[in-house]
Amino acid sequence: KLTVEDLPLEGQKVLMRVDFNVPIKDGVVGDDNRIVAALPTIKYVIDHGGRAILFSHLGRVKKEEDKPGLSMRPVAERLSNLLNKPVTFVPVTEGKQLEDAIDNMKNGDVLLVQNTRYEDVKDGEYVKRESGNDPELGKYWASLGDVFVNDAFGTAHRKHASNVGIATNKPGKAAAGYLMEKEIKFLGDAVDNPERPFVAILGGAKVSDKIGVIDNLLDKADKIIIGGGMAYTFYAAKGIKVGNSLVEKDKIDVAKQILDKAGDKLVLPIDNVVADKFNNDADTKVVEGDIDDGWMALDIGPKSVEEFENVLKDAKTVVWNGPMGVFEMPNFAKGTLEIGKFLGTLTDATTIVGGGDSTAAVKELGVADKLTHISTGGGASLTYLEGKTLPGIAAISEK
Ligand code: 3PG
Repeated sequence: KLTVEDLPLEGQKVLMRVDFNVPIKDGVVGDDNRIVAALPTIKYVIDHGGRAILFSHLGRVKKEEDKPGLSMRPVAERLSNLLNKPVTFVPVTEGKQLEDAIDNMKNGDVLLVQNTRYEDVKDGEYVKRESGNDPELGKYWASLGDVFVNDAFGTAHRKHASNVGIATNKPGKAAAGYLMEKEIKFLGDAVDNPERPFVAILGGAKVSDKIGVIDNLLDKADKIIIGGGMAYTFYAAKGIKVGNSLVEKDKIDVAKQILDKAGDKLVLPIDNVVADKFNNDADTKVVEGDIDDGWMALDIGPKSVEEFENVLKDAKTVVWNGPMGVFEMPNFAKGTLEIGKFLGTLTDATTIVGGGDSTAAVKELGVADKLTHISTGGGASLTYLEGKTLPGIAAISEK
């Protein structure tokens, strides 16, 4: 792949796709990890005399009324603070106002274009110009600059006009940014060339979201620890009683096939924190194995934590995606927090975390900087772990 260092930058209009899809509350950016993670590439471009023209989506725009709450303006303000220099915010995604603003840029200037998904709704209709990779839109955006840098790893599993569309229209001039390179290096090495033992920890509510990842990792990892709601579909497949726990009935057969193939590679919870309702204030108890009717498992229990730590303690590579319980309810966050804390102690191992809840857990614990890599990709990191080609990466030019 070409990298940003392979491109001419001095005096060039450098189109950059970043993933600034960050949480916004009351017009202010919350967690700015994704903005911070893009700074090295932006700084490299402007320090080398480039004119950085940034594109990102924010949330999902499906109707006209979604637009005001999903404006990029708060992101421009945060970026300006982080860069300690002005950032020109252009509140539209096409037309004269945008073209004039680009014409007025000087070397080293930074401009942020409005949310690329504003293009998904035109005159009140959900037309998906951006999300559907409308060829005219990619061509138009590409025409606004000289070269293209894609640093949006978090969006790389999408085939949209602002990543794939622009890249296709800049053959030989479309490169990966530093964040993109870093994500590919850590996730790629973990999956294809891991130091062993390699242990994957997968959690989250649904097996259906993770089947592809489990399938791919069964051939690559030494152990796969399963926690969170998805564990109970595996319980059902093993004939363990699940009570009122979350089970995807139509996935029980797939779970059986995975269990057959996995042998002792798959590590399931031994005990669980069960609750009498799906509520933080529910009555709870810890049970081993069978879960009675009227009770649902909402977190892993202390013996499971111990067992998981036992599997993890000698690991040399760990990849973690997905919570061990209903992390958003404080009374069922313990399993996730315990695993996060333990990862922070594995200083000899390469530790990689992806996905919103797992990342939130390690940040809340203050162990994030003890880990090797926190991926900025949720869906993108899962797609990567599935061993699939990511369109956003595939579209960047080969050297
Ligand atoms: C993400 O947050 O996973 C990416 O920014 C992609 O967002 P999307 O799922 O709305 O396409």
